[in-house]
Amino acid sequence: MRSVELTGDVVRMVNQKVLPGRLEMLELNTAEQVAQAIRDLTVRGAPAIGVAAAFGLVLAADALARPEQSTGPPTDPFWDGLDQAHQLLRSTRPTAVNLFWALDRMMARAREQRTSGASAQQVAMVLREEAGRMADEDVDVNRRIGQLGQTLLRDGDGVLTHCNAGALATVDYGTALGVIRAAHESGKRLRVYIDETRPVLQGARLTAWEAVQAGWDATLITDNMAGHFMRLGHIQAAIVGADRVAANGDVANKIGTYTVAVLCREHGIPFYVAAPISTLDLRLASGEQIVIEERHADEVKGYGGIRWAPEGVRVANPAFDVTPWRYVTAIITEKGIANPPFDVHLKQLAAAQG
Ligand code: MRU
Repeated sequence: MRSVELTGDVVRMVNQKVLPGRLEMLELNTAEQVAQAIRDLTVRGAPAIGVAAAFGLVLAADALARPEQSTGPPTDPFWDGLDQAHQLLRSTRPTAVNLFWALDRMMARAREQRTSGASAQQVAMVLREEAGRMADEDVDVNRRIGQLGQTLLRDGDGVLTHCNAGALATVDYGTALGVIRAAHESGKRLRVYIDETRPVLQGARLTAWEAVQAGWDATLITDNMAGHFMRLGHIQAAIVGADRVAANGDVANKIGTYTVAVLCREHGIPFYVAAPISTLDLRLASGEQIVIEERHADEVKGYGGIRWAPEGVRVANPAFDVTPWRYVTAIITEKGIANPPFDVHLKQLAAAQG
């Protein structure tokens, strides 16, 4: 099952807000609905929001193409409407570069059509094909990341993961969880430790759900237990996904990732990042330039309708942090595994064919 897909006039996605209570597929009909779903974490995870945004743009293109009668080039309102939808989808979340990567790729296709004189229907069709290709590529890329990354894990290892970089966070298979999945598929038995991942519990709700579905030997822990289990020798590797990786190898990922990386260094445990090439942002020299999303205070003050913090307390809620490259042992991409110096190796991998 894919976590997000486009069927006819409908974007279908797993409602990640209601898991693990129930597995609900939502059907969205407009780019506005898709934008809202990205904003409110109905769909989340860097690759999944990129593909969802691309599908949202297809819905916009289809709706705008419907009233266009001519077989000649689209009218100005078509292009204006497409750009509005594009801007709306772009404005949903600032940190994961996959969102911008996917929308840039879609708009580049639209611009090619504009110069070739295609009709509105043809533009919409080309965008649909491009978004479909992106979704298929995502699954393929994750499987390759899994194959390469699983070579870093040994039978019997305890592996800690933070947030959810699984099938739900991608179209399917996952990045960090894809590595764990591939290790299991190759016959290794791992003990998976799952950080609950405050404030919105992607670990406890989503990674734990994926682990139970897959039948892994998995243990859910609160975020502040990771150091304890490392000190006791239960964890031999940590693996996380990423929302954006700068040219020097600095990694933006879910808040709390940096803490895990520092703990790994203290305990001599390798800290791996699994991310597709589309998560690299080589235009940024370092993580200093990555915009960190600040989310609503209510996410920290309580959860699921229960409030535990007092009215009037000041709250900080950065959704991501940046792990400096020097804490990162390796970055696993679909084109190969990058080791330090990342500024050299990431550039080489990004430029490599295939
Ligand atoms: O706020 P979220 O849930 O979208 O954050 C997700 C993460 O931080 C993931 O680790 C990252 O996007 C990689 S998903 C393959």
